[in-house]
Amino acid sequence: MNLADFLALAERRCSVRAYRPDPVPADILQDVLRAASLAPSACNRQPWCFVVVSDPARRRTLGMAYDREWFWTAPTIVAVCVAPASAWTRPYDGKNYAYVDGAIAMDHLTLAAAAAGLGTCWIGAFDPATAASVLALPDGWEIVAMTPLGYPSPESAPRVRSRNPLGQSIVRERWQA
Ligand SMILES: Cc1cc2nc3c(=O)[nH]c(=O)nc-3n(C[C@H](O)[C@H](O)[C@H](O)COP(=O)(O)O)c2cc1C
Repeated sequence: MNLADFLALAERRCSVRAYRPDPVPADILQDVLRAASLAPSACNRQPWCFVVVSDPARRRTLGMAYDREWFWTAPTIVAVCVAPASAWTRPYDGKNYAYVDGAIAMDHLTLAAAAAGLGTCWIGAFDPATAASVLALPDGWEIVAMTPLGYPSPESAPRVRSRNPLGQSIVRERWQA
């Protein structure tokens, strides 16, 4: 893959909010999860786990934490979870990197899914207590984000991408307003 291929992949990934019910083939799901597990993490602590929910009844229950039909009717939901106690903490200020590590893993997952023609959508606006209870998360684990995973349905036409002009986000040498 060259840079143009990577840019095309980054362009192709977008938030999908309508899914076909067809299941994600097991080998593709495995590869997408492997891509997530290849993410870098601070001090290589890999403080994550990926909870895969395919059972329709369990998905419906998980929908109590984020009640959008397109979320819980997608054939699979993946929750990226982290255990902050096992993540690296920066000694200068005590900043724990668990959520950074989990976010990178999720980003690998979403890009790998896009490469496989699958749709994803970061979900952060869920009720964490309800989701943790449905997933039976042990103490010390937190859900960074969830995503539905499945083939986009035809009605999920990609919306026009809106991003701030690149120049607005690049700071050279030192901060300037
Ligand atoms: C941390 C995070 C949390 C998000 N939470 C939600 C969410 O709860 N529900 C939702 O529909 N989209 C959610 N999104 C998707 C964003 O709305 C979306 O990424 C953004 O509008 C850009 O669109 P794009 O993903 O199609 O490029 C979230 C994205 C991120 C990165």
